[in-house]
Amino acid sequence: MGIERCNNIGDFRRLARRRLPSPIFHYLDGGADDEVTLAANTSMFDQCRLIPDALKGVGNIDLSTTVLGQKIDWPVFVSPTGMNRLFHHDGELAVARAAHKAGTIYSLSTMATTSIEAVGRATPGPKCFQIYIHKDREMSYAFVDRCKEAKFDALCLTVDTPVAGNRERDLVTGLTMPPRLTLNSLISFATHFEWALNYLRHDKFELANVVDRVRTGSDELVSVIEYANAQFDLSINWADAEKLIARWGGPFAIKGVMSVEDARRAADVGATAIMVSNHGGRQLDGCVTPFEQLPAIVDAVGDRVEVILDSGIRRGSHVLKALALGAKACMIGRGYLYALAAGGQPGVERALSRLRDEVQRNMVLMGCSRLDQLDPSKVTMPEFGKAVRTASDPGRQVQAVA
Ligand code: FNR
Repeated sequence: MGIERCNNIGDFRRLARRRLPSPIFHYLDGGADDEVTLAANTSMFDQCRLIPDALKGVGNIDLSTTVLGQKIDWPVFVSPTGMNRLFHHDGELAVARAAHKAGTIYSLSTMATTSIEAVGRATPGPKCFQIYIHKDREMSYAFVDRCKEAKFDALCLTVDTPVAGNRERDLVTGLTMPPRLTLNSLISFATHFEWALNYLRHDKFELANVVDRVRTGSDELVSVIEYANAQFDLSINWADAEKLIARWGGPFAIKGVMSVEDARRAADVGATAIMVSNHGGRQLDGCVTPFEQLPAIVDAVGDRVEVILDSGIRRGSHVLKALALGAKACMIGRGYLYALAAGGQPGVERALSRLRDEVQRNMVLMGCSRLDQLDPSKVTMPEFGKAVRTASDPGRQVQAVA
């Protein structure tokens, strides 16, 4: 099967699973602990249903919106994700170019395998850089200046990762940065010959934004969990966020806000946006889902900051539900990474285009021609706290990884 047969994110996931060595697929796909939050992020959207209106004359649909100071063609953009060269040799550049073609914002991670400067040169599209504050504070502050120089449009600071989540699939597979062959993974790397050949023939794997000052993860093997725990600064606080916001002076989002209290703090320190996110269920398992928190957060700060929903989006209908409850836009992570693994830039282009079609078709079916017509009256109010699907069988899942 090729990408032309992939019609939705689930199809891209199946193809990614076939194309990637298993340690890499499981790094992409997995979540923390029992993956209860990972599953709930998506299933929580089922707690709320769309209420369509008929005969509304929806010939002219406008999906555009403005977020982080950028006008985008539709209300979805890509979340920052690390180490994209693991998934496809074109890595971050493939995603950045596909996002630009799709008329939306690209977000580059601190943990990327492509530098701020290279992405700046590769696409004129709107760009956001995501910061993890390292113990090496000077390097972290220098990101701001590098982004100004490379003409990035916005920054976001991820605040949900003082330490790495407990991703047990990675413990089972023994995935390291850069990837190394272990007895466990040997067969899987050998049987994914095309991936292995491409990986070896293209640019060397390195954490391009930090490699000048941090050699671990590029030259010295380390697991993702060990890297985060050794390098990230546990002591970061709201004063650090405020400092970065002042140094940047442009659109700035705080990513990983989950409580109403933190949403207020983010607005108080001058953030222009918050990304309500639990890191796609990769950090605190048992954590509330962004969709559940959305109404209370919008109610508290919706008039002061842009509220962006991230984590669990797999369908256009999820986007409509989030917008109806007050989100300005949504972000996707795994949704485009599966497509990157399945087919490089054309894969990501197709995934974004299919998702956009879903958003557009559902707008027509809802009788809405503009995004601001999506409001709470267009959905049944969710009964949160009931009937959340649990991880299928966590024990079996982890065994199946090996
Ligand atoms: C991530 N995410 C992430 N977030 C971040 O701020 N910096 C990062 O480097 C990464 N890296 C990363 C790698 C991989 C493989 C995944 C799957 C995710 C989290 C990401 O930005 C986003 O919050 C989630 O992916 C959203 O959930 P969904 O869309 O994957 O369900």
